[in-house]
Amino acid sequence: MIFEAPLRQKKVFMTVPLISPMPPVASGVGLPWDAPIDDPVSALDGARRSFGDTFVVDSGEDRYLFTFSPSGVACFYGLPEDRASKGIADWRMLRRKLPDEMFVGRRVLPQHLFGREDVTTYLANVELAVDATIDELGSAGEFDVFGMARRLGHRVGLASWGGPGSAVGERFDRLVRAFDTLDGAESFVHPDAMSLVAASGKSAERGALGVILEELGESRQELPGVEDRHPLFARVVAAWSDQQAAEGMIGSGLDVALIHVASMSNLFAALGWHLIDLIGHPAECARVRSGDRRLAETCALESIRMAQRSIMSRYVVKPVELNVGSAVHAVPPGVTVATLLPLTNTSAAPGLDAWDPNHWNRRRLADGSKLAAAELVTAFGHGRHSCPAQPFSLSAMTLASTRLLAEYEFDPSWSRRPYPVVAQIGGVARSALPCHVRYRRCRDRSSP
Ligand code: HEM
Repeated sequence: MIFEAPLRQKKVFMTVPLISPMPPVASGVGLPWDAPIDDPVSALDGARRSFGDTFVVDSGEDRYLFTFSPSGVACFYGLPEDRASKGIADWRMLRRKLPDEMFVGRRVLPQHLFGREDVTTYLANVELAVDATIDELGSAGEFDVFGMARRLGHRVGLASWGGPGSAVGERFDRLVRAFDTLDGAESFVHPDAMSLVAASGKSAERGALGVILEELGESRQELPGVEDRHPLFARVVAAWSDQQAAEGMIGSGLDVALIHVASMSNLFAALGWHLIDLIGHPAECARVRSGDRRLAETCALESIRMAQRSIMSRYVVKPVELNVGSAVHAVPPGVTVATLLPLTNTSAAPGLDAWDPNHWNRRRLADGSKLAAAELVTAFGHGRHSCPAQPFSLSAMTLASTRLLAEYEFDPSWSRRPYPVVAQIGGVARSALPCHVRYRRCRDRSSP
């Protein structure tokens, strides 16, 4: 989820924008950036029960039009970017955490890095990252699944687009600490904490960004002569070659920082749930352990579907019509149109409330025709904004799970499936509690 947003965009709507016909307003419901609210997903579920599939939420200075009807959700994914912008909606969310300078003048965006030939580079890096993870883990011990998945994701990403030296040794550790502080995903994982970030003037984030630019600057100095081993980083650096060295260093560093932050939104967490669900399903686990990559992929899609907590939103900049079936609403600029995956992904058809990889036929929902609209269920989105990193993410997840399960036996510390951070509204769920597993190398099983 990233874009380049117009920082100069001003709030020009002095009055609350009027939708016609006006859907019911869910009074008493707000969003967690504007009002203290423990469980925003449940609050919106309650509003849907009270007001129907299409309703308005007025929160802070913003008006949201939520829709969950089959026609409304299908229409949502068809809204054109130049009228109802995902880029601006994402920016309005992420700017609560990320310093403004990250959004200005970007030249290489994450969307530009997922061509067919790029995926080959990434997969070689996933192999190397899993090798490094196995080296770090050794033959036995204990880890938090999401902590391990996060470090692995950092390593894959930084090896792919971070340039020479950024995925190893001290530079890697410094970058990991800085990116974990910067982490734009906190704006939707802990929306309740954003008032503190604002009060601090984003000082921790600005400090972390400084460290990131310094470290990526070192990588840039080491690039000449090894461009062929770092094609994506070299592409970003080349995009700034018309600038003076100092400007180019900052510009390319900010491009890479925004790309890495985008990769942090979902991939780590998705890999965590993929491993947790496999550990909890011994039959599928055994087949994935023996190398069944096709099953591993449907398992990965299924874990993402179940763990989705994404709010999908579009900020209206020119009037649009939203056909929700029972009405066609004229929606003026200033409204954010939205839908929420956790309220449709597991309830749009019978049986979707349980984890079962047979729900998928390759990358499509097997029984999509039983849904009132195909768009009601998704892992990676629908339409023009669907995730450009889907092939990469699925390959990375299945490669990592297949190799880790082949290497280790896992003994989980939890007895019930872990549950998400309740405050989260956006992205793939983060676990509310650490999820520790003990592990032991398979080939050591017979040793004392
Ligand atoms: C398992 C991991 C991932 C999941 C589940 C996921 C999910 C999604 C979803 C649901 C959307 C559509 C959002 C919408 O329509 O509002 C999306 C878009 C996007 N994702 Fe991912 N994503 C993942 C990994 C990544 C990674 C690793 C990157 C890389 C940096 C990335 C970059 C993007 C971008 C740039 C878009 C916006 C595309 C556009 O607007 O045209 N995603 N993703």
